[in-house]
Amino acid sequence: MPDTLTVTDNRTGKTFEIPITDETIRAVDLRQMKTAPDDFGLMPYDPAYMNTASCKSRITFIDGDLGILRYRGYPIDQLAESASYLETAYLLYHGELPTEAQSSDWIASIMRHVMVPEGMTKLMNGFRHDAHSMGMFVSSVAALGTYYPEAKDIAHPEVRRRQILRLVAKVPTLAAFAFRYRRNLPFIYPDQELSYAGNFLSMLFKKTELRYKPNPVLERALDILFILHADHEQNCSTSTMRLVGSSHTEPYSALAASAAALYGPLHGGANEAVLTMLREIGSKDRIPEFIKRVKGGEGRLMGFGHRVYKNYDPRARIIKRTAEEVFDVTGKNPLIDIAVELERIALEDEYFIKRKLYPNVDFYSGIIYEALGFTPDMFTVLFAIPRTIGWLTQWEEMLNDADQKIGRPRQIYLGYGERKFVPMADRK
Ligand code: CMC
Repeated sequence: MPDTLTVTDNRTGKTFEIPITDETIRAVDLRQMKTAPDDFGLMPYDPAYMNTASCKSRITFIDGDLGILRYRGYPIDQLAESASYLETAYLLYHGELPTEAQSSDWIASIMRHVMVPEGMTKLMNGFRHDAHSMGMFVSSVAALGTYYPEAKDIAHPEVRRRQILRLVAKVPTLAAFAFRYRRNLPFIYPDQELSYAGNFLSMLFKKTELRYKPNPVLERALDILFILHADHEQNCSTSTMRLVGSSHTEPYSALAASAAALYGPLHGGANEAVLTMLREIGSKDRIPEFIKRVKGGEGRLMGFGHRVYKNYDPRARIIKRTAEEVFDVTGKNPLIDIAVELERIALEDEYFIKRKLYPNVDFYSGIIYEALGFTPDMFTVLFAIPRTIGWLTQWEEMLNDADQKIGRPRQIYLGYGERKFVPMADRK
């Protein structure tokens, strides 16, 4: 059987044979279907990219119907069980798990870059006292790029690699500065002797002790959360990274744009929105009333539903398990009881069953973050830190892909045809 699609354009009666590669047709192959020689040709219309592949990728695989997520072929639950975040970051970026020597080299080359230029503390101090942490994060990542003018030289693999190491190393530092600034606490400089997650905890929570000792259970829980958020193929923020990067912008600005895309409550901002929602519900007996309102079109059940997963998000399952381990140390976050009951009721409800709406990664993550000592303004920042390697790996893949050019969608113009300018005095 030939791998082709035969299409008859009923406007002209002409038949076309279009090649199918990787179960995909090329949108430009439709352009040959015209009604007149000067006709632009047929275009597919796909708002929100519901059925359009924007790239070929070898990084992350999702089967939304089966609830499968793999990085470079490795199932997410195996990575969460056995790998560290930096090992996972190496895997995403290099394509293979590191050997012991490669791992120590990689860790050392990242931890060497954890300090940020001192000017960044001045920038932070310029924010309003209660500035949202995500606003500070987005702006400070973009500002950080101004310290590395060489980053504009995106054609050189070595230059790109250096920025990738810097960004992965420095985003926790900027995030911790934002956290401390809102609390009117002095910034804590990084401690490169600690692990990636341990150093982050130190920069967040260190008080007057000479050296901060992270609790190993909480350190590991944070590392697992980082693994779960490291990449998720072509979502809104990753597509932003690729689109902004396609104009050859330097990676700090492109990453700031991705983080801005992540900020929205329909994407990475959902974890913050979940906490607000659980607080508003307040107690288990008020859940049925809340569900009724959602079904009536009054707001959404935040942390539920996904464009790709039409089954349980495998990350949500791991997070729910990790929450128990965290609570053994921190004490239980009472919101978990409301969340578990909310999930139970929703999963038995026809509305959610019919639409295949299941808990996503954001449903339980905020509850752990809160138990770890974070306020909701930090939740999306905690998503952005580990996603940094995902964004950068996808950016690197895009730049090395000969099929890619500057991103530029088409439109269907439905506005006025040409009109004669009307002077102001004649306007009604
Ligand atoms: N609560 C109630 N109804 C929902 C929800 C929800 N959370 N999500 C989708 N629906 C309904 C929606 O109203 C629509 O119903 P109908 O067919 O009657 O019009 C149907 O389900 C399909 O929804 P959609 O908006 O067409 O689906 P989408 O693929 O465009 O949206 C989504 C995906 C994640 C934006 C959406 O499910 C949502 O808004 N969820 C809540 C926000 C959230 O938790 N976002 C985090 C996503 S996971 C983290 C990440 O990677 O960003």
